[in-house]
Amino acid sequence: MPPLPSSAPIGVFDSGIGGLSVLQALRAELPHEHFIYLADSGHAPYGEKGDGFVCRRSLAIARHLHQRHAIKALVVACNTATAAAIPTLRAALPELPMVGVEPALKPAALASSTHHVGVLATRGTAQSARFAHLLAQHGDRTRFAVQACDGLAHAIERSTETGVDDTEALSKTRALCARYTSALGVFGTQTGMMDTLVLGCTHYVFTLDTLRALVGPQVRIIETGAAVARQTRRILDQAGLLLPEAAPGAEPAAIALYTTGQLPALQAAAQRWLALPPGQCASISVPGFS
Ligand code: DGL
Repeated sequence: MPPLPSSAPIGVFDSGIGGLSVLQALRAELPHEHFIYLADSGHAPYGEKGDGFVCRRSLAIARHLHQRHAIKALVVACNTATAAAIPTLRAALPELPMVGVEPALKPAALASSTHHVGVLATRGTAQSARFAHLLAQHGDRTRFAVQACDGLAHAIERSTETGVDDTEALSKTRALCARYTSALGVFGTQTGMMDTLVLGCTHYVFTLDTLRALVGPQVRIIETGAAVARQTRRILDQAGLLLPEAAPGAEPAAIALYTTGQLPALQAAAQRWLALPPGQCASISVPGFS
């Protein structure tokens, strides 16, 4: 393949709408870049489906974005897909610069004064070898309590679907957040308590207000969107693929969003969380590996 121009889009994907929290940070960091976002909502949630499935879906999506949209870089905006598939994706597409997302254990360990940190993640991430390795790297001075949150990403996906009662969806999400934060233990700033909470799934960023109310105002909540966006800038820069600051008359930054699930759900999420108009969203099918 000939080298890609810096004006090519950056591809971003997640099992669903969770990666929109990463797209939000990418837009803030790289406001003049073009983005293609793919939500695999037709196959979400990934977190309870097993590594083989997640790996096959991730590979199909990465190839689709590379071949059909000629992306210049790929952001895997999903902790579960990163844990299950990033070595496979890098091996399959060695020419494509790639950034994955991992629970922010290192920043949490550095920030925690009580040296006790809570982590919410999907079952897939929590049980992965990659996460075990991260824990081993950063767990010497810090105690990490880890909770697999079955159903939470699914409940967040459901909350944007048509025909779902908003109040019911919110109370379902709230109940799951309450169950999982209390399973972690006691939050607070006194010795023995968790003073830091890591959001190890990109979907959970959209429950930030609920989680904040549950753990209290003094607890630091860490998510990875901004760090991933800075890392994306770095790898584009290293590869000479950073789009120069918009010159007068340059094309405005384009964002196109696709879903393998319900189009109105993606449109509602894009409008609610990124203020993007429904016309920028479309349905797509990425067959072959389901
Ligand atoms: N948003 C994804 C993550 O960061 C996965 C959620 C799911 O599909 O289970 O892990």
